[in-house]
Amino acid sequence: FHVDWDLVTAEKAGFEHFMLKEIYEQPKAYRDTMMGRLSDDGRSVQLKEIGMTPDQIKSIRNVHIVACGTAYHAGLVGKSVIENLTRIPVETDVASEYRYRSPIITPETLVIVVSQSGETADTLAALREAKRCGARVLAITNVVGSSVSREADDVMITQAGPEIAVASTKAYTSQLIAFYLLGLYLADSLGTRDSEWIAEVLEAMQQLPEQVESLLSQSNVLKQVAESLAKHDNLFFIGRGTDFAVAQEGSLKLKEISYIHSEAYAAGELKHGTLALIEEGIPVIALITQEDLYEKTLSNIKEVKARGAHVLGIVNGGSEIEVGKSVDELFAIPKTLPLLTPALSVVPLQLIAYYASLARGNDVDKPRNLAKSVTVE
Ligand code: G6P
Repeated sequence: FHVDWDLVTAEKAGFEHFMLKEIYEQPKAYRDTMMGRLSDDGRSVQLKEIGMTPDQIKSIRNVHIVACGTAYHAGLVGKSVIENLTRIPVETDVASEYRYRSPIITPETLVIVVSQSGETADTLAALREAKRCGARVLAITNVVGSSVSREADDVMITQAGPEIAVASTKAYTSQLIAFYLLGLYLADSLGTRDSEWIAEVLEAMQQLPEQVESLLSQSNVLKQVAESLAKHDNLFFIGRGTDFAVAQEGSLKLKEISYIHSEAYAAGELKHGTLALIEEGIPVIALITQEDLYEKTLSNIKEVKARGAHVLGIVNGGSEIEVGKSVDELFAIPKTLPLLTPALSVVPLQLIAYYASLARGNDVDKPRNLAKSVTVE
């Protein structure tokens, strides 16, 4: 009697790749990241790990979010969450740029560094520069005891569990959950949002894990989409607002593991240049989840369709009919608040990247030229 068994296979728990396993672990990662951070009645956020006093929070004049790669993309969503909830100005920078652009950091600046590993050289150097200038540094990281976690003043651990695949999935979505919690916590402390509104957002957040499960049950549809995209060499992602932030993450994911060239564009900016690249049959993935921007993004979809693009629309549940008329294919995420759509809309993009990589016969978990953690500059 012989059992073919090795440690790596066992760790994949029946999944073909770590990346797929990690995509499927997201509902748990969302729950674990929220766990212990809500009040008993689930109506407010408690961040015991944040040592800032109410007066210190009130003295924050601006926020800098600094990170690399996928964590930077989480920071782009973080910017819009914090600005929307607190009205404090936020800038998001890639760490390798931040360090050398002589950023204006004062003791009233809150610097948030985001890093799955907590070991990325540029992010760590940015943290040190921020501290040298007297700013308070808050780290959002997945690794307890990492360099970033040891050197920051406040640390929010994302409870995603170990992430093995080079392409980050559950770490990114857990970072989004951390930003929502932090934004709500700051808004509560500053009084910029009332408690009833905060309770409603938290109620919607607690539905996210089940909503991701329902998304994952439709992975077959996305597999088909990905297999046809895999035949192309170029494609575009478009969106506005947080949809643009998610588009950038979707594009990075696809590039990293499928090696298909793609670009994410702010939908309204297309006509200033990129539209010249749209030709017959080119795939465009349009994120269109923000009701107040529907009309605007729909007109951009029409611009690319008129030039022969094949458009897949990713919409918030309930708007299928409205958007459906203008796109070739449609994928609806379960209905959630506009603020929270990134936590759902990125999941189909992760699956598309995964299945496109698979269709091209690539090494999904270990893409060429890339490392999980970049500890040198
Ligand atoms: C590498 C990884 C990316 C990751 C980035 C930042 O480039 O391949 O997936 O987003 O580093 O890593 P960090 O650990 O700081 O989040």
